[in-house]
Amino acid sequence: MSYRVAVCVSGSGSNLQALLDRLQGAAPARVVLVLSNRADAGGLERARAAGVPAEVFSDPSDASEWITRLGRRDVDLLVLAGYLKLVPPGVVQKYAGRILNVHPALLPDFGGPGMYGKRVHQAVLASGTAESGPTVHLVDEEYDRGAILAQRRVPVLGGDTPELLAARVLAEEHRLLPEVVLAAAQAGHPVPLPPGA
Ligand code: GRF
Repeated sequence: MSYRVAVCVSGSGSNLQALLDRLQGAAPARVVLVLSNRADAGGLERARAAGVPAEVFSDPSDASEWITRLGRRDVDLLVLAGYLKLVPPGVVQKYAGRILNVHPALLPDFGGPGMYGKRVHQAVLASGTAESGPTVHLVDEEYDRGAILAQRRVPVLGGDTPELLAARVLAEEHRLLPEVVLAAAQAGHPVPLPPGA
């Protein structure tokens, strides 16, 4: 039986695209629903192009609306892929251990409230660190603090701008996120990826 994945997006949805591309055919997981807080999110178009239901919240802070939409599609796993609003606490409780987020830096550094988009990469560059890379983690009540399931490292290069670094990290996100979702489908719940996987 296929593991049923919902993906939440606020923007372009390139991570959603990576999931749609990877979870095809005989894959043990598939994207059954895409949700957004914004009617103009590019991710909604990507969903529709792939024949996946794409829905916009009437009120993204209303836990009961989330639970109704997720329940209707019998969702096993919720993936936040560039979703920029808070998930209501009632949803985090109901789906505890079954919500993933992808963050574009090596948590626990460079995370927390306000750390999203370009700001993350600006902070990484300002710190002088030699490496960055995406983190996939479980979502709990605190921003960017849930258990880390997987990370990938990319170098920070001399002459990097936030945009160049963001692109290098994003390319790695596109590989890492589907791996974590496939591992979750195989285990029946999210699991840490073995180091080096
Ligand atoms: C990614 O960098 C992700 O880590 C962050 O938001 C960005 C989303 O990009 N949470 P996209 O919408 O998947 O293209």
